[in-house]
Amino acid sequence: MSDSFKARGFATRAIHYGYDPLAYHGALNPPVFLTSTYGFPSVESGAARFAGEEEGYIYSRVGNPTVSVLESRLAELEGGEAALATASGMGAITAVIWTLLSAGDEIIADLTLYGCTFGLLEHHIHRFGISARFVDLTDPANLAAVIGPKTRMVITETPSNPNMRIVDIAAVAGICHKAGALLVVDNTYCTPYLQRPLALGADIVVHSATKYLGGHGDLLAGAVVSTKELVTAFRFTGIKELNGACISALDAFLILRGMKTLTLRMDRHSATAGRLAEALEAHPAVARVYYPGLDSHPQKALAERQMRAMGGMIALELKGGIEAGKAFMNGVQLATRAVSLGDAETLVQHPASMTHATYDPEERARHGFTDGLVRISVGLEDYDDLGEDLLGTLDRLAG
Ligand SMILES: Cc1ncc(COP(=O)(O)O)c(C=O)c1O
Repeated sequence: MSDSFKARGFATRAIHYGYDPLAYHGALNPPVFLTSTYGFPSVESGAARFAGEEEGYIYSRVGNPTVSVLESRLAELEGGEAALATASGMGAITAVIWTLLSAGDEIIADLTLYGCTFGLLEHHIHRFGISARFVDLTDPANLAAVIGPKTRMVITETPSNPNMRIVDIAAVAGICHKAGALLVVDNTYCTPYLQRPLALGADIVVHSATKYLGGHGDLLAGAVVSTKELVTAFRFTGIKELNGACISALDAFLILRGMKTLTLRMDRHSATAGRLAEALEAHPAVARVYYPGLDSHPQKALAERQMRAMGGMIALELKGGIEAGKAFMNGVQLATRAVSLGDAETLVQHPASMTHATYDPEERARHGFTDGLVRISVGLEDYDDLGEDLLGTLDRLAG
């Protein structure tokens, strides 16, 4: 059945791909296989499964039928040969890094990354003999100038968390491939509905499925999408033996449920965020708004080439620095002061006083987290209610 779905539209595949109800008593939703292990029909069959010569499940750290439905759907939607679902986005990122890199290798990453990916690369990875350097990938020439024989991997987010910089995936992929490096794109902000990095030349896509894919703030999960060969390595080396970050079948089920409305949610997030970004930009308490749909965004044209719509994330720079950031955070009433993103609820985050408060100011500035920067994950509430809360809070700040 799945193959007949290949030609269908994105929304149809996000709802149906990879699951045939008739194979499971007509059950509309896939069964949740709550099992850690699987009986082998014979010792020979068990041996063949371990040798990779026979299809079949062994142990849920490396595969589970509910998780397989999610993996085939994600691979299809991202346009990859295979996918691996993981316990968290960090589980996905570390599975990729630990599987592919060894002491002596180098990673190049964009200047702005999600805080824990940044922390891994800046503070920890050198302990394993792997070096990391940060380059402004918004100008691909910067990468061409420093990429070398030790560079095995380039990692970027686009748009970047939190300040919405856009990286030209095709241009960066071309430079990586010339140098023999793999390009990893974190597609969390977009989901495959808004952007498909593999089609633009990336080698590996990673996700925090905790965010828009799940969409309801009720689980942690991640995913990797790539070639069959690489995904097999991530599964049997990265997850099975190196980090153990396997997803639970229940969380896989919840993501499949969330993905049924992915297209509706992403369209709505994008529409509301676009309106809000314009209103915020016009507000006197705001120095700058970073949203790729705004004319003021320096890479608007590139974003329009790479993305179907501009998504639900906005960053804004408040005029009063850290104190204004704190006052804004404490002033909102409908929006929730919280990390994470991609939920139905609007979430606001102030890196300088929350996620990046422990970084020294110089380090924050180097990576683009200015003191007045506030991140908004625009939810699915009514625009008027959100506008009243966010713009009203700014009015009180300005007044
Ligand atoms: C862009 C991005 N990548 C990766 C992660 C890590 O994902 P998780 O929290 O699911 O481990 C996050 C989390 O916020 C993120 O925003």
